Amino acid sequence: MAKKVFEVKDLRFKYKKGQVEAVKGISFTILEGEIFGLLGPSGAGKSTTQKIMTRLLTDYEGTILYNGKDLTSYKDDFYEDIGVGFELPVHFSKLTGLENMKFFQRLYKSHANIETLLDQVGLLEDKDRLVGEYSKGMKMRLNFVRALLNNPKFLFLDEVTNGLDPSNARIIKNLIRDFQAQGGTVLLSTHLMNDVEELCNRVAFISQGLIQEIETPRSLKIKYGKREVSVEHYVNGNTEVATFNLEGIGENETFLELIRRAKIETIHTGETSMDDIFIMVTQGAQDA
Ligand SMILES: Nc1ncnc2c1ncn2[C@@H]1O[C@H](COP(=O)(O)OP(=O)(O)OP(=O)(O)O)[C@@H](O)[C@H]1O
Ligand SMILES: [Mg+2]
Repeated sequence: MAKKVFEVKDLRFKYKKGQVEAVKGISFTILEGEIFGLLGPSGAGKSTTQKIMTRLLTDYEGTILYNGKDLTSYKDDFYEDIGVGFELPVHFSKLTGLENMKFFQRLYKSHANIETLLDQVGLLEDKDRLVGEYSKGMKMRLNFVRALLNNPKFLFLDEVTNGLDPSNARIIKNLIRDFQAQGGTVLLSTHLMNDVEELCNRVAFISQGLIQEIETPRSLKIKYGKREVSVEHYVNGNTEVATFNLEGIGENETFLELIRRAKIETIHTGETSMDDIFIMVTQGAQDA
């Protein structure tokens, strides 16, 4: 059984100016070495939860244990352990990319090689340009480098692939996977369900401040998925689709007869996408 890195119990939070609680009593555990997805509609409380767990917001109710100890009992040593990549990159626009990273790295004891990281995200050539001249995608990638400056054990990532083109998103996703392969643990929020399928070992769906589901993407697919097989085949020169229940398909004579006799164009299982599951889980919560 993997070690529990974070244990969040009955977490509640209300912003001072907020009318209602942003987080209404959520509990979850993050295990060492996993990529844990915190998903849900806009306003669900994902960023708030991440901000509480990174101690940017402190007036919460409930308990958060980090490596078995109450989060509030940690001093600045907690920040040596974690890397934070949040949705809106904050850098000094009058400093170069490299100068920015050197500035932030000074705050830590452990120092990763900045140029290696810049190279990994494709920014090495731009390291001496002012960040004010960076494109949004460049700032996002620089933000990711910033999260790794202190060789963290745990990464908080809030929408880090937002607005990246597919190649740059791929670079970041590969780095997240590398981080995990080296033993790191990740809490990730995103609206990109492809990223979730590619990266997350388990996901929690949060909606209206409450957790609706915590599962592996695979179990969610089994639970919410339509388990169907569609067979596109030719009938008198036209294609027709026949759909069968995946359950007991080996004994389904109609299906067997069809694949024996017909000229088949395609066969595929009716996979329910994570997008579908997202909508089912979170809308179900709103209707309830
Ligand atoms: N600084 C703030 N002051 C008051 N209310 C806030 C503040 N930040 C967020 N909220 C409210 O808290 C709730 C949760 O917001 P949060 O930013 O955690 O959502 P989210 O799940 O991250 O959404 P998104 O997917 O849009 O990033 C929302 O109702 C939001 O309006
Ligand atoms: Mg957010």
